[in-house]
Amino acid sequence: LTGTSTLSMGSTLPTRSTRSRTGRIRDSDIFAVTYPKSGTIWMQQILTLIEAKGDVTPTTEHLNAQRVPWIELIGGEKEFNATPSPRLRVTHLQYKFMPLAVRQKKGKVIYVARNPKDVLVSYYHFHKYAAMLETPKDFNDFFEKFMEGKVYGNCWFEHIKTWYANRHNMNFLYITYEDMIKDLRSIVERMCRFLGKDLTEEQMASVVEHSTFRTMKQNLQANYKTVPDSLLDHNKGTFMRKGTIGDWKNHFTVAQSERFDSVFQEKMRDLPLSFAWD
Ligand code: PPS
Repeated sequence: LTGTSTLSMGSTLPTRSTRSRTGRIRDSDIFAVTYPKSGTIWMQQILTLIEAKGDVTPTTEHLNAQRVPWIELIGGEKEFNATPSPRLRVTHLQYKFMPLAVRQKKGKVIYVARNPKDVLVSYYHFHKYAAMLETPKDFNDFFEKFMEGKVYGNCWFEHIKTWYANRHNMNFLYITYEDMIKDLRSIVERMCRFLGKDLTEEQMASVVEHSTFRTMKQNLQANYKTVPDSLLDHNKGTFMRKGTIGDWKNHFTVAQSERFDSVFQEKMRDLPLSFAWD
């Protein structure tokens, strides 16, 4: 969710704005990069909590998108330059659209990947209640659009391939949604090491506690519940929907799953990446 209603299906993402910001990236900048529905608000929550050393107040007082804004938001450049360090940001941008300085090891990048079948399912449900996105006719209709990359964020395969293949050009940490589900604390510890943050046991416990699905679902500023119905129709869906691994099995037909597997094998053959599918 970007908070803008100007996005159109299948559009390419902004090109001009981020390139012109190249010289203004700082070493202390932190970018959480996700393909949609892969753990964006989770990152917004964890990064805020790490920065606040486990104090939950900023996460209950301010909307996630204000605490950790989107770099692709139109009009963000002025605010970006004026913001004191450390600047925490999220983005769904494809690698090629990131500021050159980030691609030359300035700032830090945390890339969160999620098994793409679950991404597709989560994204399908999101389209049913997000006003800025076209409601799919049915699951098969959305499946086809996702496979063709005709969704906001474009092609999942392209996104992960280009970011991961270029990881050595950046200060880069790769984590997966599935590992976060399985052992959230270990991932938060990895993030702290990567970010050079040294939390006490009590602070660490607070970060983890306030980043669980259960607590985030109750935190209205963490899960977009305070966003008006004109943007997200809360009667039709919820951002914190299931938060599980393997929901794709409740949606994919055998034929869809087999087709997905063969596309995955073909497109990902050069990358040593694997996912927990259930
Ligand atoms: S968006 O629109 O791109 O910003 O969405 P994003 O935040 O990337 O993804 C939303 C999905 O992430 C799940 N989520 C979580 N799962 C487990 N634990 C925690 N704490 C958590 N926070 C967010 C959220 O439920 C969406 O997944 P689905 O499968 O739809 O439930």
